[in-house]
Amino acid sequence: MERVGGSDRGVDTLAAQEYGADAGILFGLNSRWNAYKKLTENPIDFYSVAYSSLGVEHGSSLLDIGCASGSGIETVYREFDHTGPIVGVDIVSDPFLLQTAVNDTLIKAKNEMELVLASADELPFGDNTFDNTFAMFSLYHVLQPERALAEIQRVTVPGGKIAISTSGEGNKQWHRLFEERIAGYIREQTIFSGYSDIEVPPIFANRFSLTDAAKLLPEYFEVEDVLTQNDALIIRDLDDFFTYGFSLLSARANYKPVPPIELWNKAIEEVVVPVIAALIEEQGRFSDLVHRSVFLLSNKK
Ligand SMILES: C[S@@+](CC[C@H](N)C(=O)[O-])C[C@H]1O[C@@H](n2cnc3c(N)ncnc32)[C@H](O)[C@@H]1O
Repeated sequence: MERVGGSDRGVDTLAAQEYGADAGILFGLNSRWNAYKKLTENPIDFYSVAYSSLGVEHGSSLLDIGCASGSGIETVYREFDHTGPIVGVDIVSDPFLLQTAVNDTLIKAKNEMELVLASADELPFGDNTFDNTFAMFSLYHVLQPERALAEIQRVTVPGGKIAISTSGEGNKQWHRLFEERIAGYIREQTIFSGYSDIEVPPIFANRFSLTDAAKLLPEYFEVEDVLTQNDALIIRDLDDFFTYGFSLLSARANYKPVPPIELWNKAIEEVVVPVIAALIEEQGRFSDLVHRSVFLLSNKK
């Protein structure tokens, strides 16, 4: 695979600066993602959907932007026996995540797959390098999604198949509310000086929402289809709650400044647990809307 530019660490970009390409944050993002996969009612594997709907051909090359632990890449190998090179890109710098990616499937497929540390807005590949490009639930993490779209257009062949996904309005409203209430609780704890003006992390999806995607994508690509799904994250018992609590922990590293873990746990206990416990008591479950969509595109340059 031809590589052009990019530093060895591949993280010298705006997006990486925001995250600090920090292992804690990236590990957190991944655990949150896994929690949502576990707790949503009707999880759809958007990698499978995109691969089959776009009619990705065996032997063709595939770039996966924001590949995280590589589970999407794994799906493609496992379910479709894909042949042809697959490259996963992420700003992840945590060896734990990369290690997770090297699971059995990937070891078998290793000759044809590669994980590259780089950012979506500065891809270290030449023009027209890939036949297909996927960016699944990753572009709303990028500070300037337009830069990533221009990069995707550049590195994908003309007419190449592209899948880009995002979340819609109303997505994870409870999660957002909890993040604000946690910040409110922490602000009140003036005893911990320095945390009285703590900043709540930005809503990622607002950077590249379904509305933004519908507006921006046609500037770069031919839109073939848009698939959307309303799902719900459900908590029914203590076990589910632990998974959810762990996923909320991922948000901690995004607060500025990062609150101490003891204070964080206290906030969860005071402002999250009572709400969820009351809803389970009254309705048998806590539920938060999860709205996802995937745009199936072809490269129109
Ligand atoms: C929600 S996860 C999605 C993982 C996977 N694509 C999936 O759909 O299962 C988002 C991923 O995007 C990565 N990411 C965030 N900003 C990025 C950037 N600027 N360039 C590449 N990857 C990025 C994160 O590290 C994380 O692994």
